[in-house]
Amino acid sequence: MSLKLGIVFNFLQLPDVSKYPFVINKRTDGTFVKKGLFVSTKSIEGYLIGIVEKIVLLNEYFSDALTIKAYNNENNPNILKGLFPSDDFEYAIAIVRNLGIIDFKESSESEIKAIKRMMYPASPGKKVYLVDDEILKSFIGLNQKQGLNLGKVKVSNIDAYINMDRLLNKHFAILSISGGGKSYLTSIIIEELLTREKTSGTPAIVMIDVHGEYKYLNSVTKIKNKVKVIDTSYFQISVPKLNAYAFKKYQEQISNVQIRELSKYIKKLRKREDLKNKFTLDTIIELIEKEEEGGKSTKQALIGWLSELERLNLFGPQENPVMKNVLNQGEISIFNLQNEVSIRKKQIIVDYICNQLFYLRRKKEIPPFLLIIEEAHQFCPEAAHSKALSKYIIETIAREGRKFMACLCLISQRPKKLSTTALSQTNSKLILNIKNPYDLKHLMDSSEAITKDYAEMISSLGVGEMLLMGNAVNYPIFVDIRERKFKSPTEHTSLAQECINWKKVHSI
Ligand SMILES: Nc1ncnc2c1ncn2[C@@H]1O[C@H](COP(=O)(O)OP(=O)(O)OP(=O)(O)O)[C@@H](O)[C@H]1O
Ligand SMILES: [Mg+2]
Repeated sequence: MSLKLGIVFNFLQLPDVSKYPFVINKRTDGTFVKKGLFVSTKSIEGYLIGIVEKIVLLNEYFSDALTIKAYNNENNPNILKGLFPSDDFEYAIAIVRNLGIIDFKESSESEIKAIKRMMYPASPGKKVYLVDDEILKSFIGLNQKQGLNLGKVKVSNIDAYINMDRLLNKHFAILSISGGGKSYLTSIIIEELLTREKTSGTPAIVMIDVHGEYKYLNSVTKIKNKVKVIDTSYFQISVPKLNAYAFKKYQEQISNVQIRELSKYIKKLRKREDLKNKFTLDTIIELIEKEEEGGKSTKQALIGWLSELERLNLFGPQENPVMKNVLNQGEISIFNLQNEVSIRKKQIIVDYICNQLFYLRRKKEIPPFLLIIEEAHQFCPEAAHSKALSKYIIETIAREGRKFMACLCLISQRPKKLSTTALSQTNSKLILNIKNPYDLKHLMDSSEAITKDYAEMISSLGVGEMLLMGNAVNYPIFVDIRERKFKSPTEHTSLAQECINWKKVHSI
């Protein structure tokens, strides 16, 4: 039997089709009707589900300004309370926003067949109930058995088991201000994926870890064997695999004449049997220098471009790591970019990883994967802010990845700087606190589900609270994010503590 919360009544111009008010029962058992609670009532159309949008406290004794003024003087501020039992006259009403009429399956009382739009208001006099947990799970679209447990649904307090397929398959974004808890939330999603039952099916995870925040995962005993950390200091792009046009991506100003020239040199090197298809930029440069024919200026320019690339220390005779062998189902491969300073170098690395993954996945040579990109605005910026050569492939995965089960998670502290194309393709959004009005506006522009009301709530979210909306759930929910199970050693270091440590080490 559901818990009874109150009775529908007439208040101002309500009930209408979209809203109704109810008088809240005086309760003593500790259940409070709060903003955000899911409630139901029986309308003539059937089971009407709604959410408490607003709570108003009323007291007839204090509704008349003149009376209050007359009785409330300096010497005896609460004379009214003494004269009348005014406390007893306080009552609370809740305003409910209707969400839909639920049609249940015939075989079950909690399984939902369909949700219809309501066409008629709730009836005054009808009872209002708390929505049963089972119905609510089904209404939100949670998946207790195989879902990812991210915490608890706010107010309703049921476990937020998010359906993995629905979260990953149409991509998702994690957004908040700096320090809002994005990386923390991401590590919880990773925990859930890594500890998922083998029989449930888990993709391979690839993490672009810009600040080395996730490498602690490979010192956690329980999951150690599923975590691979790849330091990008040893990252190498295979030169023999690149065709001349690929160089245009890395060196934009290279001219078409120069590319054609370069193409000839590469062909020559590929034919040379003594090299066994292992050559580097240096080998190409040497060949250009030795060649007699060809324009001198073109050759000089080419050597210039190639030498500049060589200095990045990224190009070698073969690929490292071999991308085809990096991924394993149910495991995570973390590319640690912590030691890279040059933003261009980071973009080239990310571009290469994304391109290879998408290419290999399309050929079905690697398992379905989830690619998580931290600081995504650095790798896929909106044109007005900056350029990045990794942008094209990230947008491509955002647009087409779904068909190949290549899932994308973009993390950013500046949604406004993130490519609109990519952001609008991330169907689910996990939003933590965002204060900047420009970022909020950009979010509203990129997703029609984010209304002004939600924008307001987003700006007042606390640490550990998030709004989850989009494909992952049928209805946007607020979640209290759970604590992480596997702790990072740096989690609790405060600024003061770090200063003390520094002094200890450096005063010896
Ligand atoms: N759900 C939570 N429960 C407890 N602590 C949290 C939670 N979320 C975040 N924190 C704490 O808040 C701090 C900042 O979190 P985090 O590093 O995840 O932020 P961020 O959004 O990734 O920041 P940045 O944009 O700078 O990368 C951390 O010290 C973390 O321990
Ligand atoms: Mg972070």
